[in-house]
Amino acid sequence: MNNAQPKSFFFTPENEAEARKVIAKYPAGKQASAMLPLLDMAQRQHGGWLPSAAIVYVAGLLSVAEVKAFEVASFYTMFNLEPVGKYLIQLCRTTPCWLKGGEDIARTCETRLGIKAGETTPDGLFTIKEVECLGACVNAPVMQINDDMYEDLSPDSVMRILDDLAAGRQPKVGSQTGCCGSCACGKGE
Ligand code: FES
Repeated sequence: MNNAQPKSFFFTPENEAEARKVIAKYPAGKQASAMLPLLDMAQRQHGGWLPSAAIVYVAGLLSVAEVKAFEVASFYTMFNLEPVGKYLIQLCRTTPCWLKGGEDIARTCETRLGIKAGETTPDGLFTIKEVECLGACVNAPVMQINDDMYEDLSPDSVMRILDDLAAGRQPKVGSQTGCCGSCACGKGE
C-alpha cells in the first residue's frame, strides 16, 4: 500500500465544481462551515484517506488557517490520516453493541483477516478500525464497511460478509436477520 504523502493535492474539475456549489450554500463569511463535506470529498477522491496536502488545499479553498483544517480532520474518526484498505471495517465498540456480542464480532473479524484493530491486511483489501456508536444500536451488534451498514450480526454472518467481499461479491447490506429498520420483530435476538 502506498502511504507516501503527496506533495500537492487539487480537486478534479468535477469535484471543484461540486465544492463551489457546497460552499455557496453557506452565508457570506460562514464558508468555513463547508469544511466537513469538502474534507470528505477530498478523502473520497484520494482513495479513502486524507493526505496533509489535501487538508492544506481545503483550508486554502475555505480561507481558514491550516491548523483549523488539521484540527477538524484529526478530530473526526471518519477521516483517515493514513491509507486504509479497499474495505474499511468500522467495528462499533459502544455499550449496546458490546452487550449484544460485539466482542465476538471483533474477534471474528480479527481471526478471519489475521489483523488487529488499526491494521490493514498485507493485500491492502481490509482495514479494521474501532469506532464509537454507529447510530444503529437497535440492531446491535453492528459494523460499517465503507458506506454500508451491516446489522444484527453474528460470527457466522460476519464470516459470510467478509468471504463475499474477499471474493468480489456484494454482501447483503443491512440487517442480517431480516429485521426491517427499527421494528421490534425480535429477529435480531
Ligand atoms: S452501540 Fe453500536 S450502533 Fe450504537
